[in-house]
Amino acid sequence: MSAAAATCPYTGQGSYTVLRDPDAVREVLHRPQEFSPTNALLAVTPLSAQSLRVLQKARFALPAVLASNDSETHAGIRKVVAGFFTPAKVAAMEPRIRGLAREAAASAELMVQARGTVDLVQAVAANPPAIVMLELLGLPVRDLPQLKSWSLDSLELFWGWPDADRQLELAHSAADFYRWLRELVLDSVASPEANLFKALAQHGVRTPEICSLGYFLLIAGQETTTQLISTTLFRLAEGSRGISWSEGSSATKARDLVRHVLATESSVPTWRRMALRDTELHGRPVLAGEEILLELTGNHGFPWADGGNTDPAGRDGQGPTPYGLAFGSGIHRCLGAKLAELEAVVLVHETAAALKGVRLLDSNPDWLRLLSFQAPRTVTVGRRA
Ligand code: HEM
Repeated sequence: MSAAAATCPYTGQGSYTVLRDPDAVREVLHRPQEFSPTNALLAVTPLSAQSLRVLQKARFALPAVLASNDSETHAGIRKVVAGFFTPAKVAAMEPRIRGLAREAAASAELMVQARGTVDLVQAVAANPPAIVMLELLGLPVRDLPQLKSWSLDSLELFWGWPDADRQLELAHSAADFYRWLRELVLDSVASPEANLFKALAQHGVRTPEICSLGYFLLIAGQETTTQLISTTLFRLAEGSRGISWSEGSSATKARDLVRHVLATESSVPTWRRMALRDTELHGRPVLAGEEILLELTGNHGFPWADGGNTDPAGRDGQGPTPYGLAFGSGIHRCLGAKLAELEAVVLVHETAAALKGVRLLDSNPDWLRLLSFQAPRTVTVGRRA
């Protein structure tokens, strides 16, 4: 086992034992009685009294329901949510995903024709995953621009290192999101149509818990996929992973590249666990309360990495993380894994097919780099000389 301590390079906050060895990571995920996900959704930067007041005013609360739930209620709630993402439902969604992908790629091509350049994050990666998620959950597709910006703000609030002013700004955004969500939950529970929130209420889950689950799922169920698509399109346009832009128009090559990105620099490169009692892992003692950062995939210049892109071959000489770990493992394994991969492959393949002969115009974009999320913020391509 290789372990290192990680703190924020800017503030020195947080202290995690970092596990990079895939076998140790998998073992932790498969010992939920000892390694709990109770810290999975905690704010990396403690919330100030002022930020807490803003959140409390919106009745914002994140009781453990799914991803951070280590109690016996987890299995039943997971079953309700899983019912909305069965392999059959995901497969049946493929034509819809392809239709959305073609529409987005065609409008990106029009932008290139009109202006010579397009940002593929906004034009292609941003909206289709959100539309597909809301449709699968039986929820109305509305307010997408707000949902996208609330998602990024909340990820930064909980997994970033904002200073006090920025944190307050993000807290206001999270409070707005939560108010919107609460209204959506109440409407959906009362709706005659089948939907996730109604199914949870019928299972006996109370409104604050449904809101907590909704807060996590409405972000995790689409922004992470947007980020995976963004990184894959960036690497494709860069041509740095052995697959050229024109080859990306083959579904097989697009799948190979998505899987490569999932193994080496996924949108969720790390996830957290906490030791519930004194125990031992691969011969190393672990103390009760120890916070553990699990490296699921490679990463793009994280605080505890050497800087720059972490070469997967350089992960302590052990090669890349098996791609399966990108979605976690064990009883909390991601319920959207199949959907996310399908969406990414279709979006990448259709984009490469529609935008022939484009090249990367900005090879050094700004990257979103949070404790557990990463992606280029823009992927600018075009046909400029
Ligand atoms: C590239 C996209 C995605 C990545 C990389 C990703 C990754 C992850 C990871 C690492 C976990 C924690 C697993 C663990 O603790 O063992 C997780 C949990 C989860 N993910 Fe995803 N995810 C993605 C997309 C999605 C989508 C599209 C959905 C649904 C629409 C989704 C729903 C969930 C749920 C519900 C959980 C909690 C499961 C539980 O605690 O039982 N995810 N995801």
